[in-house]
Amino acid sequence: MKDPIIHGAIRNSLLQGFLCCLLATALLFSFSVKTAHAQDVPAAIDPGPRPGPQPSIGGAGHPIPGLPADQVTFWADGLILFRDTVSVKGTLSGEPLAGLGPAFNGNSCLLCHSQPAIGGSSPAQNPQIGIANLDGATNTIPPFLTAAGPVLEARFIHNADGSPDGGVHDLFTITGRVDAPANCTLAQPDFVTQLQNGNISLRIPIPTFGEGFVENVSEDAFKNNLAALKAVKKAAGIAGRFNTSGNDGTITRFGWKAQNKSMLMFAGEASNVELGITNEMFTNERTNSGCATNATPEDNTHVIIPTGTNAGDDASQVSSLIENFTIFMRLNAAAVPCDFFTSQTTCQPLGASALRGQALFGTIVPATAGTAPNTGIGCVLCHTDQLRTAKSNLASLNNVEFHPFSDFALHHMGAGLADGISQGQAGPDEFRTAPLWGVGQRIFFLHDGRTNNLVSAIQLHASPCAVGQVCSEANAVVAAFNALTQAQQQDLIAFLRSL
Ligand code: HEC
Ligand code: HEC
Repeated sequence: MKDPIIHGAIRNSLLQGFLCCLLATALLFSFSVKTAHAQDVPAAIDPGPRPGPQPSIGGAGHPIPGLPADQVTFWADGLILFRDTVSVKGTLSGEPLAGLGPAFNGNSCLLCHSQPAIGGSSPAQNPQIGIANLDGATNTIPPFLTAAGPVLEARFIHNADGSPDGGVHDLFTITGRVDAPANCTLAQPDFVTQLQNGNISLRIPIPTFGEGFVENVSEDAFKNNLAALKAVKKAAGIAGRFNTSGNDGTITRFGWKAQNKSMLMFAGEASNVELGITNEMFTNERTNSGCATNATPEDNTHVIIPTGTNAGDDASQVSSLIENFTIFMRLNAAAVPCDFFTSQTTCQPLGASALRGQALFGTIVPATAGTAPNTGIGCVLCHTDQLRTAKSNLASLNNVEFHPFSDFALHHMGAGLADGISQGQAGPDEFRTAPLWGVGQRIFFLHDGRTNNLVSAIQLHASPCAVGQVCSEANAVVAAFNALTQAQQQDLIAFLRSL
């Protein structure tokens, strides 16, 4: 589907211009976000995000290299829609997509997914602050949302009657907006009281780079990887299990708790939950309250091809918004590792320090015949360094190796990280091993973005094993990290910041 206000001819120049702006912002971040939170007092120093997103320095934000031209076109069309702003009717200037609200957390996918490039994670400055009162909206800023903090979405742990909730409660409503129905008076949830009651659990965005690879891993490949090195994992206190789909029983793999099955499913859910756009996966408004007057679903496959554009010239134009988001994310390349300390202007292979760090992290594959795998201090026992896709109709995703640094399994992380939320098989302290590809360019870490420092992110994996509580499966590995010399810890950070 073409953007209603941007036609194909100017698409490429617009795209380049936009990537440039993002680059400038990303470079700024890399020099401004460097310090640890004062209370963390880490031994090793996290230098902050490495620059991006140009391909020459390994940045994310590009289609998978070598895609045929038609797939690159579809990716670029999807990127434009992922970037575009949504309003209630799609009639406001500069806000071309329709379907915002009645409640919402953002007004574009890009709002939350922009660091270091379109599709990424939270930027340094939270853009949600700026949309609370856009176009006349009367929202107040929830107390946990700050300008210098990460983009957030809020889940409530319990309902008022004490039963489990776990659902996302949107931060804002369209009440008061110039394009909202006159009788729309939907109020925001009472976040002040919910916060006082300790009933709020927060999450930050996950980057959408490399998604096509993850989507196309077979059940057997995941299970064999989790079963590998069982004895070593057991000795370190590491187990893990998969979240599964209530529909077909297969492994689900996206989201902080691996609660979602596919890109199309996530695109559909994010459209309705984050933006309020009903669609062919999630067909009904989450709330009506006199505010929802658009025909549903608001986003459709274009059985009737839109007029006024070069109709039918490509698959993107016939496709729904959510299918466009899906193709964009599926064909997004992952960041390419580059040594942060060797050069910040060209992509250099890992230098001596990062290579020592990689050995400490652990490198199981590629296994050299006859050599035992090096499990280092054990990060790799959860953060798997290499997986392989199944057969695919897309050559770039067909039976290829990739390096997500995740087993995509759930692990008990103890009371320190527990968020009180259950999703599918995942219990309140279980999280998917966060994939670490692209982590070198990230600003905020862990599911609620509680730190911007990689050393803290590692140490926060550990939780004391109180009586009656499940320990963190990462306790032994974090103890091994803490036992490293400062120089060794610094090597490990050099490796992570090169990802
Ligand atoms: C208000 C901020 C916000 C907006 C707007 C937003 N997202 Fe997200 N996104 C998040 C958060 C938070 C998560 C983590 C959700 C979770 O696991 O509970 C996430 C996770 C994802 C993931 C999972 C990635 C992975 O590898 O696990 C995908 C895919 C995604 N979003 C796509 C989208 C799309 C497509 C849009 C636009 C329709 C969108 N998001 C809009 C905040 C946002
Ligand atoms: C028991 C499995 C396990 C082990 C061992 C482990 N991790 Fe993790 N890691 C996780 C899980 C699960 C998360 C997500 C936790 C959360 O967000 O609450 C995570 C998150 C992270 C993050 C934050 C990523 C993000 O997207 O915010 C970093 C960085 C990280 N791990 C690095 C390491 C390093 C380095 C080691 C070795 C010292 C290590 N991990 C060992 C399971 C593990």
